[in-house]
Amino acid sequence: MAMWNPHSWQALPAAQQPEYPNLSELERVLAQLRRLPPLVVPEEVGRLRVLLAEAAAGKRFLLQGGDCAEQFKDCNAEAIADKLRVLLQMSVVLTHSGRRPVVRVGRIAGQYAKPRSGGTERVRVGAKEVELPVYRGDLINALEATPGARKADPDRLLQAYFHAAATSNHIRALIEGGFADLHHPERWELHQQSTEAYREVLEEVRESLEFLEALGGVERGTLERIDFFTSHEALLLPFEEALTRWVPDPEGGGANAMGLSSLARGGGYYNLGAHMLWVGERTRELGGAHLEYLRGIQNPIGVKLGPSITAAQLRELLQLLDPTHTPGRVTLITRFGAGSIREHLAPLIHAVKRSGHQVLWSCDPMHGNTVKTGGGLKTRHFEAVLSELRQAFEIHAAEDSQLGGVHFELTGEAVTECMGGHAGVLESDLPRAYETGCDPRLNGVQSLEMAFLIAGMLRK
Ligand code: PEP
Ligand code: CO
Repeated sequence: MAMWNPHSWQALPAAQQPEYPNLSELERVLAQLRRLPPLVVPEEVGRLRVLLAEAAAGKRFLLQGGDCAEQFKDCNAEAIADKLRVLLQMSVVLTHSGRRPVVRVGRIAGQYAKPRSGGTERVRVGAKEVELPVYRGDLINALEATPGARKADPDRLLQAYFHAAATSNHIRALIEGGFADLHHPERWELHQQSTEAYREVLEEVRESLEFLEALGGVERGTLERIDFFTSHEALLLPFEEALTRWVPDPEGGGANAMGLSSLARGGGYYNLGAHMLWVGERTRELGGAHLEYLRGIQNPIGVKLGPSITAAQLRELLQLLDPTHTPGRVTLITRFGAGSIREHLAPLIHAVKRSGHQVLWSCDPMHGNTVKTGGGLKTRHFEAVLSELRQAFEIHAAEDSQLGGVHFELTGEAVTECMGGHAGVLESDLPRAYETGCDPRLNGVQSLEMAFLIAGMLRK
């Protein structure tokens, strides 16, 4: 196999890349990005790798979630805190009722690029229909339907970096400031809601904490701070390359304690724009640029798997991304749809077992269950999402495998984008608060309800 370096992907076909009209401007921006400080540090990435290896061994459960596409305009204190809140609430429910410590990974602070099924779309501008380049996410162009807005603009790479920096800074500040303190989960109450069941969980958590502390069993510090990691789809490769940094071999016990030195002996390349990166269903082809880029970085890698993947392709893909058979190096995120998971999942589980790779299996019950309403809105039914999840748990159990995580598109805000759930969002409710720039998300209430249902499945 050819030598890897951060730009070796450039020799291979790269799907889903925009065309930049001004390449010298792109070069200038990339040079600036390469000089800017990283958004995360390798020690954190190493810590996540340790946690994901434990999840792959069934000792932890991965909760990954956030927007389909973050938009720069939503980079504000309330929206960020709401998203952190809903993930914290879900993780308390999963840990307490599901009895499994949770690894929290946001689709946040960098989820700005979207793969699209076509390069252009026909939209109505005033009285006439015109053909425009599609919106590819704020990292690339603007959602507004005008030719100017849809031009790929290199300056957006810098804007994305600074918005990601502002977002992760706020998350870090909230966590440092005690927002995630388990003694005060009332800080995470979302305005609109709080079910009786959730209140009961909080009360039990509080009592258990008091009991443990009375026994001297837990150090306060460990409960006041939590781990929270960032992730996004590694889609726009020049951007990802510019955030890739060489990290020399770490020395001393500190690095060891972080689990870093065992990961990158002799040093290694890290994408320091996020803790975890994933490759999407539309860009994971063998021989393509995206897998080439991802195989060389030390970060944990997620791979979305839809109905088109074959067992042989999956084995080849794992050999490429995980040649050293490192537990938790790869998270396989299946997204078949409630109607086709039965057909597809089991053969892949067999193939992975035979290959000897210790992957972390996660289920994205969102992307295979998208439907369009008569009014033209993309939505998902709570019941379909739940059904794919239930089947994922059942199939893994039947194959003597473990579902070790879930992957959601969600938000803490009271949007009406997905239908169903206990609160009963109807098709006629959808236009009321339909705010996503891309796919429909579970709202805060639906997310928490989902967490209780998953906790029930974990207990079984
Ligand atoms: C996504 O996660 O937003 C996405 C586009 O998913 P997939 O690649 O699985 O279609
Ligand atoms: Co999506």
